[in-house]
Amino acid sequence: MEKYIIYNINNIGEEVIVKGWVSRIRKLGGLIFIDIRNRSGIIQAVVKPECQYYELANELKSEYVIKISGIIVERENKNNNILTGEIEIDVKKLDLINISKELPFKIDNDTTALEDTRLKYRYLDLRRENLKENFILRNKITFAARKFLNNLDFLEVETPVLCKSTPEGARDYLVPSRVNNGKFFALPQSPQIFKQLLMVAGFERYYQIAKCFRDEDLRADRQPEFTQIDVEASFVDENEIMTLGENLVANIFKETKNIDIKLPLIRIKYDEAIARFGSDKPDLRFGMEINDITNLFNNTEFDIFKKVIANDGIINAIVVKNIASSYSRKELDKLIDYVKNYKAQGLSYLKFNDEVTGSIVKAISEVEIKKIKRSLNIENNDLVLIISGNYNVVKTSLGALRCKIAHDLNLINKDDYKLLWVVDFPLFEWSEEEKRYISCHHPFTMPKDEDVDKLLTDKAHCYSKAYDIVINGYEAGGGSIRIHDEKIQEFMFKALELKEKDIREKFGFFVDALKYGCPPHGGFALGLDRLTMLLAQTENIRDVIVFPKTASATDLMCEAPNTVSKDQLKELGITIEK
Ligand code: AMO
Repeated sequence: MEKYIIYNINNIGEEVIVKGWVSRIRKLGGLIFIDIRNRSGIIQAVVKPECQYYELANELKSEYVIKISGIIVERENKNNNILTGEIEIDVKKLDLINISKELPFKIDNDTTALEDTRLKYRYLDLRRENLKENFILRNKITFAARKFLNNLDFLEVETPVLCKSTPEGARDYLVPSRVNNGKFFALPQSPQIFKQLLMVAGFERYYQIAKCFRDEDLRADRQPEFTQIDVEASFVDENEIMTLGENLVANIFKETKNIDIKLPLIRIKYDEAIARFGSDKPDLRFGMEINDITNLFNNTEFDIFKKVIANDGIINAIVVKNIASSYSRKELDKLIDYVKNYKAQGLSYLKFNDEVTGSIVKAISEVEIKKIKRSLNIENNDLVLIISGNYNVVKTSLGALRCKIAHDLNLINKDDYKLLWVVDFPLFEWSEEEKRYISCHHPFTMPKDEDVDKLLTDKAHCYSKAYDIVINGYEAGGGSIRIHDEKIQEFMFKALELKEKDIREKFGFFVDALKYGCPPHGGFALGLDRLTMLLAQTENIRDVIVFPKTASATDLMCEAPNTVSKDQLKELGITIEK
């Protein structure tokens, strides 16, 4: 077998054989032009009336499978949009290998066919060039990752898929056991526990391109079944593992797209990310940082702001440059509706032109307007958007608003990649549902050294040795240094108010392993699907997963999940409640 060849102007005069699918057929001035599509792309073939296969060519239809032999010649009308656009094949022989039914939709890069139809016939949709490119890219990514990690002596190890619940925090997919009726395996939400056990086993450097399964609400960047480039190493600290992670990512960018990523990546603490960008995955491709202007209103007469300050709330603003005069009332009303999705009570605005106008211009004083102007470095035609209230609501709603406005106003250059680490995540978060503090990551995450003593006394102010790698506003990966010290692990379980019985039942085997000379270790996992999305410049995760699920977690092609026979259920000891 030989490598695929993409023929070009240098191959003129060569006799070639091409096999593939009829992508398009045109008949012009007695000539038949056939676009043949295969893995290496599209190439044009021309059948002349004097060719003995002319009649057969006349019968061809879209998606028929053919084989042609012919001579490469220079094209009269060149097409600069495809790699083979300067040449065509003068057909000498044509074989019809197989015919095709009429397709449910046309194979076209700019298809308008409904996504549901395309998912039902995914094997046809995958014939589209741009979709196929995503999988060629995905393969390049995993290849680059494997090469990079193998060069550093990382071992690729497969861990089980039928296992016990792992503590990533989503709902598990369960698999009933036939041999042990009434018992269930859980599919791994990640190989977290296994990779830590491999550190106890002395493997020191592990990686895996690992399938993970999470039964959670789906979004444009989430699938129930997804893949991680999962990494773990022993005897490393936060700095070493983050350096490894960013070098891996930079290497992937370079090898797959020849993009140079400047290292080291900047690191922003979680609290700062929330304060400045209203998100733990800030998009740094545009400005519009969030400014705290609460202090400017310490003596305000404006009732709403007065109350907010009295209730320990905050007043924050973002500045949209040079847009005030063109932002209509209607557009501003849309923004007000938008922030309501994030629980903001309202959105005030000020337009700084020759005159200052806006929703609160009469409610606040001239001095306050001047202070805003000075502290936010306002220039002519700037628009200031202000939200006040509870800290989290203000930050999250302004964070979402800055992204929406950047998209709406086309402020983002799609070829721009901004990467950073968000570090020092809180160790715990308060769960209203469970009325207790739960782990932000998982219960094996190492607290910051200075916070170990606070685990039981000041949970709200404990931070962890956890980090996320963020690319263009997406969480592309995350990890942490793990607890290898039995005592700290005990404190941790206590802080989480986990009962001894539950600990034993859930991860007793794992806690036991920590007692047998566990090395200090840490790691991370990159979301392979998200990384591919980013490099392929698509916002839909389904474009990079070969047979994806719909938003309601079903596979329209296989019609899964599906009912099973009574006999199968009986064997498993399961009855379905009606
Ligand atoms: P985490 O849960 O942060 O960490 O996952 C790591 C990365 O996996 C990707 N990801 C997803 N991609 C698509 N669909 C999903 N449903 C989905 N969920 C997560 C994200 C995310 O950053 N065991 C830890 C890693 C570690 O600590 O080493 C873990 O799984 O890009």
